[in-house]
Amino acid sequence: MDPPEINVSISVPSARTRPPLPLLSVPEHSLLPAPPVLTVVKVASVVGARPQFIKAAPVSREIRKHNHEVLIHTGQHYDEGMSDVFFRVLDIPAPDYNLEVGSAGHGRQTGEMLIKLEDVFLKETPDAVLVYGDTNSTLAGALAAAKLHIPVGHVEAGLRSFNRAMPEELNRVTTDHLSAILFCPTETAVDNLKREGIEKGVHLVGDVMYDVALASAQEAMKRGVVRRLGLEPKGYVLATVHRPGNVDEREPLASILKAFAECGETVVFPVHPRTRKMITKFGLEAHLPVTVRLVDPVDYLDFLGLLIEAKKVATDSGGVQKEAYFFGVPCVTLRDETEWIETVEDGWNAVVGTDTEDVVHAIRNFNPQGTKAKSFGDGHAAERIAKLLGGLA
Ligand code: UD1
Ligand code: UDP
Repeated sequence: MDPPEINVSISVPSARTRPPLPLLSVPEHSLLPAPPVLTVVKVASVVGARPQFIKAAPVSREIRKHNHEVLIHTGQHYDEGMSDVFFRVLDIPAPDYNLEVGSAGHGRQTGEMLIKLEDVFLKETPDAVLVYGDTNSTLAGALAAAKLHIPVGHVEAGLRSFNRAMPEELNRVTTDHLSAILFCPTETAVDNLKREGIEKGVHLVGDVMYDVALASAQEAMKRGVVRRLGLEPKGYVLATVHRPGNVDEREPLASILKAFAECGETVVFPVHPRTRKMITKFGLEAHLPVTVRLVDPVDYLDFLGLLIEAKKVATDSGGVQKEAYFFGVPCVTLRDETEWIETVEDGWNAVVGTDTEDVVHAIRNFNPQGTKAKSFGDGHAAERIAKLLGGLA
């Protein structure tokens, strides 16, 4: 695909957390190679959940070229297949700290992260704290840092689903308002922030998930996962489901699984542990035909390999909707709204909810054609983020 040009706006961090720091002044479109950085900046990066390991991979690599990174894993995700495997396949350095917070309700989980992150920040005294996306690990990292007057950088700033029933929406909005440097993946994200009065410290850098997807696609294809699983290229639908609103109650989960069973396609479904627990609890697996193949979560390269060769994707994941768009795979989104509105505007994402008939209809009939013109950057978002952070010196 031909990556559209991206404009990078450079401005100073907000004075909300501490007086503005001088940021590197870089003329537009002359971002590489990096000018010499005289003082090494210490960045504490907070990750904890599967998509954050993926997003951190390219950024961590870039930060470490010129500056110092302390990598903190909150322990929100801890299964081998939800955590360690991503560090291995994406060559992410081992975390300097694992806070081993584990699973709990929102308050307890976020609270424990706050306590432990504050201790680490006090010990390490980083120049900036970098958080990713919209999980409880994101919010805890941002809040602990902001209270200590450490500038917060937010990767994937400005995303909005406008659905406050989603825990992620609360985490996003709060994190953005705590952040001094807001790294936006899209123009829509910049506009969303503007509407909330956030204009300082906002940088349109592109999407780090596009960086990592582009860099990994070839290696992913070499894995041969499609053949390994006995599938035919373009002969199956790839599914993921894990939003609490879709899986924590029997009705929506049963409705989605019924659609997978009735859509007339082989459905390959790597099952998130939250969803696995609920499928077992509601006794739903016994009713599934052999065409619905529940498998354990797969590593990033295998997932990308499965996605690139899929006929369609059916998902409620944020990241997977984008990946489908990157690789031109029609996406059926099992939600009522999306924060990745560009994928819908361009006609590649059908947002259909969880009703069995609607999902079956979309899987059978949604066949978008044409170009994908929306910008998720040029595959160099991580370089821009690292450079802007380096400018904090
Ligand atoms: C979290 C994020 C969500 C993100 C998703 C990515 C929040 C509020 N939610 O949702 O935004 O899209 O990660 O996958 O931060 N579990 C395991 N093993 C693990 C991890 C989880 O068994 O390694 C099970 C536990 O039963 C746990 C449940 O999954 O209670 C949910 O995990 P949790 O991290 O609370 O939320 P996710 O649904 O994973
Ligand atoms: N993913 C993966 N293995 C899987 C399912 C998903 O590597 O079995 C990757 C996928 O490529 C995407 C990311 O996980 O990059 C999405 O994470 P998830 O759906 O858990 O979270 P969300 O994006 O919804 O926050």
